[in-house]
Amino acid sequence: MPAALIRGKDIAVTIQEELAAEVRHLQTMGIVPGLVTILVGDDPASQSYVRAKNKTAHALGIHSEQRSRPAATTEEELLALIAEYNSNSAIHGILVQLPLPRHIDESKVLAAIDPAKDVDGFHPVNVGKMLLGEPCFLPCTPHGIIELLQRSGVETSGAEVVVVGRSNIVGKPVANLLIQKRAGGNATVTLCHTRTRDMAFHTKRADILIVAAGVPQMIKADMVKEGAVVIDVGVNRIGESESGKAILVGDVDFAGVVEKAKAITPVPGGVGPMTITMLMHNTVQSAKTAHNIMA
Ligand code: GUN
Repeated sequence: MPAALIRGKDIAVTIQEELAAEVRHLQTMGIVPGLVTILVGDDPASQSYVRAKNKTAHALGIHSEQRSRPAATTEEELLALIAEYNSNSAIHGILVQLPLPRHIDESKVLAAIDPAKDVDGFHPVNVGKMLLGEPCFLPCTPHGIIELLQRSGVETSGAEVVVVGRSNIVGKPVANLLIQKRAGGNATVTLCHTRTRDMAFHTKRADILIVAAGVPQMIKADMVKEGAVVIDVGVNRIGESESGKAILVGDVDFAGVVEKAKAITPVPGGVGPMTITMLMHNTVQSAKTAHNIMA
């Protein structure tokens, strides 16, 4: 029997309805959560992600501003823009879309964001708190993956989880969240990467396989255990349809793996909508914290 689909898009709608209700409640107290997205350069994928983030914010009643800057923007100019929003009390979340042009030092930029407005969870203070299991902004894609698993009834406690990919945005943090001693954690985690000697040896052992490698369709059916849960984080543009729409595939060979897995996320409509939703969650949370509203 083919795998059940873990429809991130549907789960995201449910969470967004909860968030929209929360935003309406905040509005009765005169509080409007505010988000700014900062995009440097003209990468089409980044442009489309940022557009989607602003559109969702708007739909939920969150105030959102998009600041686009040319690829030639200097590091100083970008740091000045961040400083402007650090001291803007109407803005509770600052997101600098990655990747940045090569001449800009990404770590320096991420560290310049006020940790209290770091709704991406990329500031070293928030990364450290996440590692320690302390309350903080969790990075959106890893947090979205944990929510997907929990809301789909997938037990992580005691599970063998294999993560493929060691990026700062997905691989490292999701592995970290999965080992935390709390609901949605307690897993035994193996983290594979480009220097892993025998990838299939590891992936075939996984009860839950999370793939964030950025390599189109690299995970084939013979690398997956019968009955595994497969989370595909990849978004790879492999061409354009006749109408000019991007053709997207994940890092998992969906057609093959769907026949072997117990459950799998589609691409698109799987992890992607969850990333945006958790960004909205963090923005609402940030506005509440700024106004001393608990929980
Ligand atoms: N680029 C790819 N994913 C992300 C993300 O979650 N946040 C930001 N800021 N940039 C990204």
